[in-house]
Amino acid sequence: MDIYVDSANLTEIRQAKELGLADGVTTNPTLIAKERGEFTEILKDICKEISGPVHAEVLSLDSDGIVREGRELAKISDNIVIKIPMIKDGLKAVRVLKSEGIDTNVTLIFSAGQAILAAKAGATYVCPFLGRLDDISHDGLDLLGVIRSILVNNPDLETRIIAASIRTPNHVVELSTMGVDILTVPSKVLSQLEKHPLTDIGIEAFAKDAEKFK
Ligand code: E4P
Repeated sequence: MDIYVDSANLTEIRQAKELGLADGVTTNPTLIAKERGEFTEILKDICKEISGPVHAEVLSLDSDGIVREGRELAKISDNIVIKIPMIKDGLKAVRVLKSEGIDTNVTLIFSAGQAILAAKAGATYVCPFLGRLDDISHDGLDLLGVIRSILVNNPDLETRIIAASIRTPNHVVELSTMGVDILTVPSKVLSQLEKHPLTDIGIEAFAKDAEKFK
């Protein structure tokens, strides 16, 4: 199981890397817009920090534009993966970029049908969004389970799942239990995973008892 950092913030990415929690990085236009600097420069800096895949999203919505942007983004570094929205033109672009040896991630997946189409188009990764489904009272984890079963039962579909829009430590635990390939996790959730009140109470009690030996 790989864990990616869902962030374009270098400090957050470095902190996760120190803990072995940065097998890759996912960005999107919203995450990059939160940072200072130019779009391409931000991605270049992330690629200098991370040797695993760094996912960068295109803004075009027509297949020619997506392919053009994808080729340009791929020049930034060998480890760039092109994130493409789940639309018909996006799927056409996936096929072209795949034929050129460029890895793609079909993002904004909200149904198993969309995941099948993306996998058949040749996407290296499919990226279902859990939290945004939960937000509208659908079961994001349920969708992840279905997509995982489809890919396990059809090994000819050589696509890996990246579970995205992860909002809670429980999402991380449930996805790990399911055996989902890759989880992209915001740094806030990584910190929440680390904390437990009984750990803090235990540390405090041990420190107090150890005073006897001083
Ligand atoms: C990552 O690839 C996605 O863009 C990201 O996880 C979306 O998360 P959000 O739904 O919390 O914005």
